[in-house]
Amino acid sequence: MNNNLKVVLITGASSGIGQAIANTLMEKGYRVYGTSRNIKEENIIKAKSGSGFLKMIPLDVRSDESVKAAVEYILQKEITIDILINNAGFGIAGSVEDTSPEEALSQFDTNFFGVLRMCRAVLPKMREQKQGLIINISSVAGLISIPFQSMYCASKYALEAMTEALRIEAKPFGIKVSLVEPGDTKTGFTQMRQYTAASYNSAYNLAFLKSIKKMEKDEQNGPTPKLIVDAVLKIMNSKNPPIRIVAGFSYKTLVFLKRILPSRFVEFVVSRIYS
Ligand SMILES: NC(=O)c1ccc[n+]([C@@H]2O[C@H](COP(=O)([O-])OP(=O)(O)OC[C@H]3O[C@@H](n4cnc5c(N)ncnc54)[C@H](OP(=O)(O)O)[C@@H]3O)[C@@H](O)[C@H]2O)c1
Repeated sequence: MNNNLKVVLITGASSGIGQAIANTLMEKGYRVYGTSRNIKEENIIKAKSGSGFLKMIPLDVRSDESVKAAVEYILQKEITIDILINNAGFGIAGSVEDTSPEEALSQFDTNFFGVLRMCRAVLPKMREQKQGLIINISSVAGLISIPFQSMYCASKYALEAMTEALRIEAKPFGIKVSLVEPGDTKTGFTQMRQYTAASYNSAYNLAFLKSIKKMEKDEQNGPTPKLIVDAVLKIMNSKNPPIRIVAGFSYKTLVFLKRILPSRFVEFVVSRIYS
């Protein structure tokens, strides 16, 4: 199918990685529906050339009703939804001891259950049209766990598990599923990070602050989202997309080393970096 007929739905397109992917796909001629929780009015940005567009629509992935409304809106305007990019996400920081079950649930509600809600809303249409592509934006933290980011890592580990299973389930219907794992990337993510309430008066205070400072510095000095955009394009252009693409050479090396080195050694390296 020609790009300018393909319909893309991307969650969290108001900032950072999602915005960069949405703008690139619009410029390449895709019909892009990007989402945000804060749309005041319908907002169409026309591509400078070609017939691609990016239209921002309201969506909160934590709400079944909001997900249903967004998908119904698109299906009133389009015959297909060809590509779903689950990108919306945020991070909660704090030691395990300083994280309440409510705070952990709120992390999973967006990063894990948000993706589940989106997949459940879009898969029936993709099965009916006998084709589709789902790209889940995970994280290197979905493969290597980091201290004081445990709930964020756990939500992304869970996303990895769900995606690996979905990939096999959806294949007979012509639906392809892949993961992209970014490392530290300069976006609005750092500013949006929440600290658990108990972190502010914690026995872990010094280690927590040191670790989080390192993390935030790496994010803000990190590359732009271009690497992630390139990984998404690679998957979209592949007849047989890979299970995952780790974005960036250094992170690819890290993930490779995790596979071949003893776990205790990996733990030693992670704890040297972050504590
Ligand atoms: N930046 C990094 O270093 C990094 C590294 C690895 C993985 N990632 C992953 O990359 C993805 C994008 O993050 P980013 O770095 O681009 O962060 P960002 O600049 O903060 O963008 C996050 C996007 O998610 C949306 N969002 C957040 N909560 C939402 C909700 N409940 N419902 C709908 N949309 C929601 C935000 O939209 P509104 O606020 O407008 O609703 C925003 O557009 C996330 O899944 C993140 O975990 C980022």
